Amino acid sequence: MKNTVASLMKMKEKGEKISMLTCYDYSTARLMEDAGVNMLLVGDSLGNTMLGYPDTLAVTMDDMIHHGAAVVRGCKETFVVIDMPFMSYQASVYDAVVNAGRLIKETGGNAVKLEGGAAVKEQIRAITDAGIPVVAHIGMTPQSVNTFGGFKVQGKSEAQAAQILQDAYDVQEAGAFSVVLECVPTKLATLISERLTIPTIGIGAGEGCDGQVLVWQDMLGMFKDYVPKFVKHFANVGDTMVQAFKDYDEEVKAGIFPAEAHGFKIDDEIIEKLADK
Ligand code: KIV
Repeated sequence: MKNTVASLMKMKEKGEKISMLTCYDYSTARLMEDAGVNMLLVGDSLGNTMLGYPDTLAVTMDDMIHHGAAVVRGCKETFVVIDMPFMSYQASVYDAVVNAGRLIKETGGNAVKLEGGAAVKEQIRAITDAGIPVVAHIGMTPQSVNTFGGFKVQGKSEAQAAQILQDAYDVQEAGAFSVVLECVPTKLATLISERLTIPTIGIGAGEGCDGQVLVWQDMLGMFKDYVPKFVKHFANVGDTMVQAFKDYDEEVKAGIFPAEAHGFKIDDEIIEKLADK
């Protein structure tokens, strides 16, 4: 069944949990769709996972469109959200609408996501008014890493918790149909999820959210340099890949791969005629 804004809102109403994963390419999108994941996020985390940057700040609109369109080509039923990269919406409401429009027109995605609460209310309102569904993102917002002084849990103090709750009300009021809560204490995320009518999607925000999102390379154990506390490895695909690469390397060097079965045939006569050429 096709996932839509209406079906995702209905899931919250019925108390059904929503699954979301990041995704950055066609073949992974096909596999995630086969698995029945409700939403794919073409996150600007592709700056870290696909492009090797230390944070998401260098990611461009063209990067998002390139990966976003590939993911959309792999999906029929899955709802695809495309992240708005750093500085594609902060400077003005005009920028926000034009860039959100570009992301949707040039990828075929279903919605855009942008970071921030009260500070981006006008942008959320204008993008929504243009007919583009918006997912908001509050709590620890990675594009503000330099303001936070690192990727740290947000909302532990009374003032911060009150601000995050207000951000949640603000983005809902501005028209966002869903909100990602990143790295906030479980009890705060639970309270926000109970207070809002739109679905909350948590990452490092505990079990009380209406849905969950993880970066796919994290949940498959493909990144082991730094594993955040909130990540669970659902498989150790990283180890399996390294073993397969080793086996390939050994077989190529030992002349075991390719075997006869992996080659293509030609008539001997043709080869014989080439002998004196
Ligand atoms: O870019 C991203 O992957 C995200 C998730 C961490 C929510 O924004």
